[in-house]
Amino acid sequence: MTPTTIAIGSDHAGFELKEHLKRFLEAQGHPLEDCGTVNTQPVDYPDVAWKVAEAVAGGRCQVGILVCGTGLGMSITANKVPGIRAALCHDSYTARLAREHNDANVLAIGGRITGTGLVEEIATIFLTTPFAGERHARRVAKIMEGETQRST
Ligand code: RB5
Repeated sequence: MTPTTIAIGSDHAGFELKEHLKRFLEAQGHPLEDCGTVNTQPVDYPDVAWKVAEAVAGGRCQVGILVCGTGLGMSITANKVPGIRAALCHDSYTARLAREHNDANVLAIGGRITGTGLVEEIATIFLTTPFAGERHARRVAKIMEGETQRST
């Protein structure tokens, strides 16, 4: 797999799965920027989601991975950052289409939903599937145009 610079973060509910993913991704040579949290003490997921999303939107990292209990709070927050297309993926098919159709740049995972084996498969698919372009490029461009028009 081509090394990808990844910003990764979780809240307390996603901490264990984030640590599992870190070991898995580091073993494959991906440089990681860990944006927290550092243990299972309760934290507020937006604080971490902002850090990961800004690392990706600012260009320091190519991809973001966020884990909370359901993945919902992380994806909702990350999608508020201009330039971010965060996709909540509970399965491999969604992970593939999030890349092929939506050119997603942040993967959100439900730490209380997704098991360790499945999360490895989802992350691998997300990191290796290219954007399909063509008609999807027009649609993604409309998302980004709409974001610009509405952010003032
Ligand atoms: C924390 O209890 C939980 O609300 C959080 O991890 C996440 O699932 C929110 O969307």
